[in-house]
Amino acid sequence: MDVKKVEEGDGKGLALLACPICFKPLQPDGQKSTKKFQCDTCNKVYASNGTYLDLTITAGLKDYEEVMQPSTEMFRNPAISFIYERGYRQAFGIFGYPGADEELKLANKYLEPAGGGVLVDLSCASGLFTRGLLKSGLYTSVIGLDFSENMLEQFQAFVQEDPSLNNTDLILVRADVGRLPFATGTIDAVHAGAALHCWPSPSNGVAEVSRILKPGGVFVASTNALDIIEPVKQVFRRAYGATGFWTERELKELCGSCGLVNWSSIRNSNFIMFSAQKPS
Ligand SMILES: C[S@@+](CC[C@H](N)C(=O)[O-])C[C@H]1O[C@@H](n2cnc3c(N)ncnc32)[C@H](O)[C@@H]1O
Repeated sequence: MDVKKVEEGDGKGLALLACPICFKPLQPDGQKSTKKFQCDTCNKVYASNGTYLDLTITAGLKDYEEVMQPSTEMFRNPAISFIYERGYRQAFGIFGYPGADEELKLANKYLEPAGGGVLVDLSCASGLFTRGLLKSGLYTSVIGLDFSENMLEQFQAFVQEDPSLNNTDLILVRADVGRLPFATGTIDAVHAGAALHCWPSPSNGVAEVSRILKPGGVFVASTNALDIIEPVKQVFRRAYGATGFWTERELKELCGSCGLVNWSSIRNSNFIMFSAQKPS
């Protein structure tokens, strides 16, 4: 989180944060506090560590520990967080990902209907796209959200190295895509770059995105696409133990089943970026 902004408490996005258990809006815990937030319904306090606000259900628990599936856990590793923007992400080019600048341009184009609103960069990692989305000046507030503590720490380090981000309205949140800490129908846009294939349940994730979007809100995501015949697809997925890639028809069907309309997509080899909207 942009610590300065959060401590000043002037971020528009802050008012939209909700309890991940009951989805009711959070209240500052104490007068003008921007380090701790309270859910009056669940009687639970969520705290910032100075970098990000932890809004996972397990935030603050001392004894209970939960391990997610490998495609979530691997990104919590400090070494992966460190190399992510130092070669790891660039390697996606092998599969047809056009690269950060071009992907950002494509995403901003799709996000046009949400200009001037609050944008959540879901599964933002170390902020490669969040920073670009923020610098575009097209959104009043940008919330970077990821499950990985180390990715968010790396994000904050990049923010501190970049003076052009000093006075921007950025909030960093740790949360699980399966339990997004926002009330229903409150967010203008959600961007999720190269993340759907990493989520524990992509359908739960897209359902959550649909729940938090305002009427007319926009969802833009990129992921792995592969045209593959049905029997091979099934054998591969069961052997791999995850989805990993989709046909375009599958992604369109998933969005439609979660109540999203106006599907549109761009494809380059195994890269697909798609957009869908919450009906107005
Ligand atoms: C391949 S990276 C994509 C990062 C960035 N959006 C991009 O386009 O380069 C996938 C991200 O998904 C995040 N992720 C995995 N499981 C998650 C979950 N359950 N909830 C939220 N984020 C998750 C990881 O921590 C990781 O930062």
